[in-house]
This record gives sequence, structure tokens and C-alpha cells, in this order.
Amino acid sequence: MTARSSLTIVLAAGEGTRMQSSLPKVLHPVAGQSLLAHVLGAAPKGGGTALAVVIGPDHQAVADEAKRIRPDALSFVQRDRLGTAHAVLAAREAILRGADDLLVAFGDTPLISAATFARLRAPLREGAALAVLGFRAADPTGYGRLVVEGDRLVAIREQADASAAEKKIALCNAGVMAMDGRRALAILDKIGNANSKGEYYLTDAVGIVREQGWEAVVIETGEDEVRGINTKAQLAEAEAVLQARLRKAALEAGVALIAPDTVYLAADTSFGKDVTIEPFVVIGPGVSIADGAVIHSFSHIVQTAIGRNASVGPYARLRPGTSLGDGARIGNFVETKAATLEAGVKVNHLSYIGDATVGANSNIGAGTITCNYDGFSKHKTTIGKGAFVGTNSSLVAPVKIGDGAYIGSGSVITRDVPDDAMALERSQQTIREGGAARYREMKTRDKKPKG
Ligand code: UD1
Ligand code: MG
Repeated sequence: MTARSSLTIVLAAGEGTRMQSSLPKVLHPVAGQSLLAHVLGAAPKGGGTALAVVIGPDHQAVADEAKRIRPDALSFVQRDRLGTAHAVLAAREAILRGADDLLVAFGDTPLISAATFARLRAPLREGAALAVLGFRAADPTGYGRLVVEGDRLVAIREQADASAAEKKIALCNAGVMAMDGRRALAILDKIGNANSKGEYYLTDAVGIVREQGWEAVVIETGEDEVRGINTKAQLAEAEAVLQARLRKAALEAGVALIAPDTVYLAADTSFGKDVTIEPFVVIGPGVSIADGAVIHSFSHIVQTAIGRNASVGPYARLRPGTSLGDGARIGNFVETKAATLEAGVKVNHLSYIGDATVGANSNIGAGTITCNYDGFSKHKTTIGKGAFVGTNSSLVAPVKIGDGAYIGSGSVITRDVPDDAMALERSQQTIREGGAARYREMKTRDKKPKG
């Protein structure tokens, strides 16, 4: 059987004022990614799939986020917010291109999975015109209720239009649906706005499908997958659901999470084999951790690649653009940013390594700072292989330290250091024989009680 083509339309024109935020709702993050990124990540991808996002006016940032995730994403502006069917039709141009399956999802419902999209599409292959995602709500208030006869879907009744009996139905509309692409416009164009809100309801598609004598079905899923986000509290609930999923998946993949509930992961965190993560670690987006690496407690890691058998923390902060080679060691109170630390590099204590490259097996002493910023621009520090940077050195960038070079402790290095050279930058030390004893004697004399 040849694969069916698809168009996924993600509705994201909602204003989201209840988030109490100036950020468009769908750009709020959970598990290190925007709500929109989660939905787009679950949508069908690859050959024969197209994607469109419907955004509100002045929400170019939402279109940009869609493009960042899926360069092929189209975006359409819905000028007036006249309902979910009206929003879908804002993408008419994309629908006219004629995909086999039309999928509609909400941008504020981030926990939806790729498997659910696939389950929704299956009935279309069997000839159904419409498949609606349903769930049994603990509290159905506010959701559209699914009116069914056997396994056939008869209608979706919005809360505002539901009878007392219909309000008792627990089976609710998740908002996600799949429509036969060939019949989609015939269905959507018939939807009117004769309801209590005067909106064009996508849910009216069910009645229209039935009138045509076509088939509409329900596919059920768990409530956790279809949580919609309207408030910061719901955002936090979604975060909790996602973290639980990510921790479980990491444990199943063999990651040793000693106290899983204290470790925060991102949706895109990738792990090798035999990785250990100690309690209280926060991992943001773009992190990969290779085989055998250990992340010690209280470390915070974002956009970083960690090599095999590397060791990080406790109390390390690895910022975007960090790359640690195999066996590299980052110790306590070390911060890195845009830094490539090759295999076997040690930065064990109290350092800042930013905009820097450190060659294999170099040792960076406690308190070393790359002075990368002059108040106007950032500059690079390049350290060769097998170098030794003594404790409490300041490396004033731009500066290069050669292979095998040795920097004496406490030096402020402002000029390049050649391979195998020793650089020392300190004032001469003075020794006064007996000076300490004389000093003590003087101080004791001064302190003698008066009178
Ligand atoms: C909708 C469903 C309801 C379902 C519920 C699930 C309809 C008519 N109702 O109700 O059956 O139980 O979701 O959460 O579909 N949007 C636009 N433009 C519009 C209107 C909405 O883009 O003109 C987008 C919103 O940004 C949001 C989504 O569509 O992402 C749903 O809109 P919302 O107003 O939240 O619909 P509900 O009343 O929750
Ligand atoms: Mg809603």
C-alpha cells in the first residue's frame, strides 16, 4: 500500500490572556520546548507530509518558531477569531493542494503523540470521512461532548449548546481530528455559525458528515495526552506529565537516575549507555550525553554535547555551545559557554571557560578565568594540547596558549604563549627574614593595657 499524504493544520490563533504573559501562548515552554514545538514534533513528518500553522495577527514570532522546527511549515493569519472551523479555513490554500488526510490539532495541546496521530488516520484508510479524538474527562465542563451510537459518532455538542442530559456525557472532544482530504473542503464550507456563540465550530463537521451519509468515528485516548494549556498552572501540570514521561523513557533506555523525581530533562535530551545522573540535575534543551558519562548533583546543562566517560559537577554550569570530549572532567563551580574541551581535559574547580577551545589532556587549574569580554565584544581563547594553566590565572582574550605550554599560577596572560613555553606574570616576591616575628612583637607591644 502506498503511504497516504497528509496536511496537518495546527490552530494557534488563540490569544491566551489567561497566561498573564506578553508571550503568545503557544511559545511558552514545557520540557525545554515551546508548546508549538511539541505539537509539530508529533505531527506526521517526512515525504508526503505538509504542515500549516494558523496564527493570530501580530504573531509573526509563532510563524518563525514553526519555520525553525519545520522549515517546510506554512503559516496563515486568521484576522478575526470567528471559531475553529474558520481558523482551519484560513489555511484553505494549503487544503486546496489536496492531501489524502487532513489533520487538525491545537497548538496549546502539547502532549499529543505521533502514535495518536497515526491512530486517527487509520479509519480514513478504511473509508471514514472523519475521525475525532475523544477522551473521558474527569471533569467534562467546558469541553465539547461526543454523542455516540455504538462506535459511530453522531454529534459533538459544545458546552454552551448542550442539553442537561448531554452535559452528563463524560466522553469529550479533544479537538484533534482527521478528515478525508478529498472531502475536507466540502465539509468545512458547509459549517455555519448558528449557535449560541455565533462561531464557526469545527465540531459541526460531524453533523455534516452524517448528513452526507459518510462515516464519522471516535478514537479514544487518555486525558493526559489532550490537556489544553490556558493558564500557568496548567503549564506546570503539563510539565509534570512530560517530565514523568521523559524520566520513565530515560530509565527504560538504561540511564541510571538515582532520584528520578529530582532530575529535569528536555524533550530532546539524548543518552548513550551506562549514563548516571545524580539527584538534582537540570538538563535544558539540546543536550546529548554519551556512554558512561556521570552527571553529579546540582549541575545545570543546556545545549551541550558530553563525551564518553566524561564527568560533570557537582555544581557545574554548562551553557550553550559547550562540547566535552571523551573523559573530560568538569568539577565544582565551573561554568562553560561556547567552549570546546577536547578529550581528557580537566577543569576541576571554580573556573569560567567561555568562547574557548582547550586541546586534549590540558589541565586548567582552580580559579582560571577566560576574560572573554572587554565590555564591547567577545574574544576567543585557544589553548593547545597538553597545556598546564596554573591556579588563578586570567587569560585575557584574544589569546593563544600553545601545546604543552605552562602558565605559572596567578598569571594575567595578555600575550600569546608559544608551544612548550613557560609564562609567568607576577611581581617579584620579597622575603624579610624575621619580619613576621618583628611584626608580632610590635603589635603585641601596642596592645598592652594602658596605665
Ligand atoms: C474546543 C472544541 C471543543 C473541545 C475543546 C478541547 C470547538 C468548537 N470546540 O473548544 O469541542 O472539547 O476545544 O480543548 O472546536 N482557535 C483559533 N481561532 C479561532 C478559535 C480557536 O485559532 O477562531 C484555536 C485556539 O487558539 C485553540 C483552539 O483553536 O488552539 C481551540 O480553541 P478554544 O477557543 O480553546 O476552543 P474550546 O472552547 O476550548
Ligand atoms: Mg480551549
